[in-house]
Amino acid sequence: MTYRFRDLLALEPLSADELTFLLDQSKLFQEIQRHPLKKLATLRGKTVTLAFFENSTRTRISFSTAASRLGADTMNLQAEASSLKKGESLLDTVYTLNAMKPDCLVMRHAASGAADFVARNLDIPVINAGDGTHEHPSQGLLDALTIRDRRGSIENLKITILGDIQHSRVARSNIHLLGKFGGQFTLCGPAMWVPRELENIGPPGCVIRRVSRIEEGLEDADVILVLRVQTERMYEPTLSAEEYILLYQLNAERLRLANPNALILHPGPMNRGVEISPEVADGPQSCVLEQVTNGIAVRMALLFLLMSGATEGGEGALADEASGAPNASPEKKESTHAAD
Ligand code: NCD
Repeated sequence: MTYRFRDLLALEPLSADELTFLLDQSKLFQEIQRHPLKKLATLRGKTVTLAFFENSTRTRISFSTAASRLGADTMNLQAEASSLKKGESLLDTVYTLNAMKPDCLVMRHAASGAADFVARNLDIPVINAGDGTHEHPSQGLLDALTIRDRRGSIENLKITILGDIQHSRVARSNIHLLGKFGGQFTLCGPAMWVPRELENIGPPGCVIRRVSRIEEGLEDADVILVLRVQTERMYEPTLSAEEYILLYQLNAERLRLANPNALILHPGPMNRGVEISPEVADGPQSCVLEQVTNGIAVRMALLFLLMSGATEGGEGALADEASGAPNASPEKKESTHAAD
């Protein structure tokens, strides 16, 4: 099995086998996180540009840490301080960054399709770190890895997604991934955030139902994905934070309606006490911190695959590292740039 794309823009086009391959690759990098010395030299001499046109804390730090643990350097574009504020176009900005000769671009942008647009105009691998309401593929992968680690499998799960599904790229990436493994989805939230069209966004044959009462939504769930409530999307007087808490907060009492071993995922940042109660966020079923840890492994695997031109996995490279052999010199490991 190989990864046949030059970029990672979305999970929707990937097959179940390709997704399994990416999760398996991430396992190798999870092991490295458990070592006291976490730094490899696999991508030494390579540079990753992190272009976050939209604010981000954990995703940017996670990609940056993943790059540095592989020995790569990073260039950082901070949205607030960038020339975008002076009127420069997205394409001019990325052409400028590309002229500094990075080997990969990781980008986040508020517009759906922005990463795809940039990838079509650049000759280096592009990783989508979240584009508008479209997809957040590395988040979908780290969520699946976390579930697979806890349950042993991601097959045939009943997944309940709570909150603003309409605007959630995390929800979409999860549906595209877990739906390919027989996942059935229950979407639950205020009607304005769970429109009917969402029933058709999954892969062929994927069952997606919408419910308005959280009690009904949680019944029998194996996995509960709690989404952040974006207060800027709350429309007083249609919905206030108090009403949201009353109707949709995942609290201990409601959690008892789900499967007793149901896992709770939240992509962060959490609004404690709004979409999730503190006792649930910190309880034994919560996977929130494992998700963060796994994010680094997934992103190391992605950077490794896209930047080293590796096609058959990381074992060779990692084994070389362990024995102290200086592998993956820039001369030897040119990116294959397979067409996507
Ligand atoms: C998510 C995002 O930005 O899409 N966060 C993240 O990447 N961990 C979800 C969110 O911001 O609510």
